[in-house]
Amino acid sequence: MRLKDCHNIGDFRKLARQRIPSPLFNYIDGGSDDELTLRRSTQAFDDCDLIPNVLNEMNEVDLSTHIFGQKMKLPFFLSPTAMQRLFHHDGERALAKVAEREGLMVGVSTIGTVSIEELAKITKAPKLFQLYIHKDKGLTYDLINRVKEANFSAIALTVDTIVAGNRERDLYTGMTTPPKLTLRSLLSFMTHPEWTLNYIFRKKFELAQVKDYIKQGTDITSSVVDYINDQMEPSVSWKDAEDAIKRWGGPFAIKGIVSVADAKKAVDIGATAIMISNHGGRQLDGSISPFDALKDIVDAVGGKIEIILDGGIRRGTHIIKALSLGANACSGGRMYLYALAGAGEKGVQRAVTKLREELIRDMMLMGCKSIKDLSRKNIKFR
Ligand SMILES: Cc1cc2nc3c(=O)[nH]c(=O)nc-3n(C[C@H](O)[C@H](O)[C@H](O)COP(=O)(O)O)c2cc1C
Repeated sequence: MRLKDCHNIGDFRKLARQRIPSPLFNYIDGGSDDELTLRRSTQAFDDCDLIPNVLNEMNEVDLSTHIFGQKMKLPFFLSPTAMQRLFHHDGERALAKVAEREGLMVGVSTIGTVSIEELAKITKAPKLFQLYIHKDKGLTYDLINRVKEANFSAIALTVDTIVAGNRERDLYTGMTTPPKLTLRSLLSFMTHPEWTLNYIFRKKFELAQVKDYIKQGTDITSSVVDYINDQMEPSVSWKDAEDAIKRWGGPFAIKGIVSVADAKKAVDIGATAIMISNHGGRQLDGSISPFDALKDIVDAVGGKIEIILDGGIRRGTHIIKALSLGANACSGGRMYLYALAGAGEKGVQRAVTKLREELIRDMMLMGCKSIKDLSRKNIKFR
């Protein structure tokens, strides 16, 4: 598979599978337990159909939307994901460059591999920092201060990961960070020499945001599960979220909400946005998919808080369905991660270009000139 033969996210997935060792591919691709939620998060979009209108003098399409107090050129953005340097030596730098070119917001994970400070220097793209409340409150507050200092646009507090999901694929493949050479993984590393050489000779892997605080940030081998279970504060509460909002003082999203009750609490504590998300089907398996949760949440809190649908998106029409139902914007991880793993910056650029082109074509065919024209009249559930 060559990059120029990749026309959709499924193609980028095939490219990634070929180009990187299998523990890493499966880490990106997999979900928790039986992966029910992972699958449903994409399948849910098939339960409704689009209803286009015709003869609408469609010369131009405006894809811009407003979130986090800013005008975004596109109605989707790149969700924060961990450990990108493992998938490709460009890591977060690739996303930062594409995001700047495309006017896209880029998510930066607490478990990221390029520092907050470096990203502030290398990209003018709007940046969303993804925060976890760690057991070490000092670390949590330092992160907020560093993000403030680096002039990021917004923070998203991830709330669905107080313990690690049961990702069995990682147990079978022996996935650790940094990757550990075992008999089982040896063949996979040997059959991907380009990735292996780039891993050894390019910039060193590190958990750039937390390396000065905890041993897992360095080259001590550990699993992601260990990191989450050792470091995250399971007793985190709405009060902690409210404190973080006050400490930050800027646009703030709560990421990982799927219930109406929690969406209302997010409004009450003054969050700017919620990201309806199940962490890409990697946490509680069997939990509701973001698209299935969207309608009730929009009905309850739409207009009071910005609503971002996060997860499952593989096509432009998925974004159109979510916006028609009332989301203000969408976001996703695998929509760019396979492309990053397969071909670095060029891959991410192609994935974003393809999605943007799909969206423009689909909006033309819908007879909708701008995101504002999309409404529930444009969809019908079966
Ligand atoms: C490999 C991988 C790593 C992720 N790391 C993080 C993370 O560090 N923090 C976080 O809040 N979400 C993380 N997520 C979840 C994403 O932010 C996003 O919610 C998810 O990818 C959405 O589902 P999608 O991949 O179907 O678009 C990760 C997802 C993947 C696939």
